Amino acid sequence: MAPAAPPDNQALFDALGETARLVEAQLDALLAVPETSEAKLIEAMRYAVLNGGKRMRAFLVMEVAKLFSVNRTCAARAAASVEMLHAYSLVHDDLPAMDDDDLRRGQPSTHKKFDEATAILAGDALQTRAFEVLAEEDTHADPEARIELVLALAAASGMRGMVGGQMIDMESEGKTLSGAEITRLQALKTGRLIQYSAEAGAILGRAPAPMRHAITAYGRDLGAAFQIYDDVLDEIADEATLGKTKGKDAAQGKATMVSILGLDRAKAQAELLAEQACAHLESFGDRANLLRALAIFTVTRKS
Ligand code: IPE
Ligand code: IPE
Ligand code: MG
Ligand code: MG
Ligand code: MG
Repeated sequence: MAPAAPPDNQALFDALGETARLVEAQLDALLAVPETSEAKLIEAMRYAVLNGGKRMRAFLVMEVAKLFSVNRTCAARAAASVEMLHAYSLVHDDLPAMDDDDLRRGQPSTHKKFDEATAILAGDALQTRAFEVLAEEDTHADPEARIELVLALAAASGMRGMVGGQMIDMESEGKTLSGAEITRLQALKTGRLIQYSAEAGAILGRAPAPMRHAITAYGRDLGAAFQIYDDVLDEIADEATLGKTKGKDAAQGKATMVSILGLDRAKAQAELLAEQACAHLESFGDRANLLRALAIFTVTRKS
C-alpha cells in the first residue's frame, strides 16, 4: 500500500472545531437546567463540561465511528458521554483533597466557581449521566452495543482504570517510581479512557475484530503519549495558553516521566509512542489521516 498522505493540521483543527460544535450541542440538550431547587447542580455540571477543552476524546469517538459509517447523532451522544466522564474526573482531580488546583481551562475550577460540596456532587452526577446516556436507545438501536459501551466505559473509568490510576497518583506523591510503575499509573489514570474513546467508535460501528484490535492498539499508544506530554506541558507551557497552573507536578512531587527521565527524554518517549500509535492505522489507509494528525497534535500541542 502507498504511504498515507502527511497529516494536515488545518484539516485537524477544522475537524476538532466541528466535533466541538456537535458535541456541545448534545451536551446542552442532555444537561437542560430544571426550574427546581437542584438547578445549581446542573449549572455546575454545565460549567464543568461546557467551559472549553480540546474535545480530544469526543473527536476520537466520532472520527473512529466515521471509519465504520456510524450515524453522526449516535456518535455525538457517545462522544458527549465520554466528555462528561472526563469532566467529572477533572472536577474531582482539582479538588483541595486531590491536586488542589484553582485553574482549569483558563477559568476558576468548579469548586472555586461554586463550592466544594457542589463540585463533588456535580462530578458525581456527570459520571452517572454519562452512563445513562450510553444506556438510552437513541445511542444505538442494538441493546448489545449499548451494554458493550457501558461495560467498556465502566472498566476504563473505575477501579481498574481512571480512579485506580488517580489512587496510585496520590499515593506516589513524593516517591520515586520506576519507569514501568509510571507507565502503569498513567495507563490507568489517563490511557484507559483515551483508549476507550477510540474503542467506542468501533463498538458503535460493530467493527470486525481485526479492525477493532487495530483501533484499540492505536488508542493505547495514543493515551500513553498523551499523559507523558501532559507532564511535559506542565513544565514548558505558557500558563495562559495551558489554562492550568504550571509547575504543579514538580511542586507536588508527582511521579512523572519528566521527573525520572528529564524533559528531553520524556518528550522523545511521547513522540515515539505517537508514531507507534500511527503505525497501527495502516490498514485504514488515507481514511485515518485525521487520526494520524491527532497523534502528532498530541505531542506538539500547547495546551
Ligand atoms: C487533561 O486532559 C487531563 C489529563 C488526563 C491529563 P485534556 O488535556 O484532554 O483536557 P481538556 O479536556 O482539553 O481540558
Ligand atoms: C489527571 O492528571 C488525570 C485525570 C484522571 C483527571 P493530571 O492531574 O496531570 O491532570 P491535569 O494536569 O490536572 O489536567
Ligand atoms: Mg492529578
Ligand atoms: Mg491535576
Ligand atoms: Mg497534568
